[in-house]
Amino acid sequence: SVHQTADEQPAIGSHSNSEKYADVNWDELGFSLIETDFMYVMKCSIGESFQSGSIAPFGNLELSPCCTLLNYGQGLFEGLKAYRKEDGKVQLFRPEQNALRMQTGAERLCMPSPSVEQFLHAVKQTVIANKRWVPPPGRGSMYIRPLLMGMGPALGLGPSPNYMFLVFASPVGDYYDKGGKSMNLLVEDKHRRASPGGTGSIKTVANYSPVLNAQARAKAQGFSDVLFLDAATGKYIEEVSACNIFIVKDKVISTPETAGTILPGITRKSIIQLALMLGYKVEERLIPVEELLDADEVFCTGTAVVVTPVSSVTHQGRRVEYKQSQGETPVNKKLCKTLTGIQMGRIDDKMGWMVQV
Ligand code: COI
Repeated sequence: SVHQTADEQPAIGSHSNSEKYADVNWDELGFSLIETDFMYVMKCSIGESFQSGSIAPFGNLELSPCCTLLNYGQGLFEGLKAYRKEDGKVQLFRPEQNALRMQTGAERLCMPSPSVEQFLHAVKQTVIANKRWVPPPGRGSMYIRPLLMGMGPALGLGPSPNYMFLVFASPVGDYYDKGGKSMNLLVEDKHRRASPGGTGSIKTVANYSPVLNAQARAKAQGFSDVLFLDAATGKYIEEVSACNIFIVKDKVISTPETAGTILPGITRKSIIQLALMLGYKVEERLIPVEELLDADEVFCTGTAVVVTPVSSVTHQGRRVEYKQSQGETPVNKKLCKTLTGIQMGRIDDKMGWMVQV
């Protein structure tokens, strides 16, 4: 069903399509780049719209040292995953949601963006070209990273004259270190991630490196990651450096509302939908840090982290451990099982979320 033009066809007979699997130790997958064979590239100038792109060998880019991506952070990224099912077919999880989020971000950063159709086409082409790198069923997934970047020069502050939409992919396993399938979070009380009216709700590249200093301080103390508080008051929980956060208290699930300072996660939104379907009460609202410390369960969601339980939170020197209640399956486990079941094709996709490649 995928439209493919001649110039997009990766060389058949090259290693890409002739072998079923790339030479990867699938049991050792973590979350670091494994270079795959191909990427998708599409270019356009300002004031125009993207027309067509093509598959190219994975490799370095050439860009102006004065380009707006490097100088002014005019760039966006996305993250989504492809899964290989037991029948060998590959499917994507809600890719059109990523396309729409990229469009929102592009508008905020004055960039042209691919249509949903173009985005989907590019993602599918990238997966097809790199199919041998999609892990076997249940052994991981293929993480797909679309980028939208200002590639041309602007010395005075202004938008780039030209843009590149690029999609690359890498096989991945768990985001956090092996064995550490839960997180110990430190509440950051010095830096803030996003402020009202800012860019916290779009996936601009510029949102992520400002997190690194706090993350490094937390990691140096043995924590897995940091949780940021709202910039205006410092009273409410917002988001972990690379994922959204949920709390559970007396079976009610709550998560910070997306009012401009939080990244509207696609996994976040899906977990809310699944929780409602499973009969839980779900609240999107302001969550004071005290409620976090008083919760029965805390967990994080994201494309990269999927659903990861939080085993402890430390706030101003006070450490709270979240204990599992006897004999009961935690809410986050139930949600995770349902979500990953759908993603891997083991549970019927009643929501119509999966897109066949
Ligand atoms: C994702 O979960 O896909 C993200 O984009 C987070 C990233 C910082 C790893």
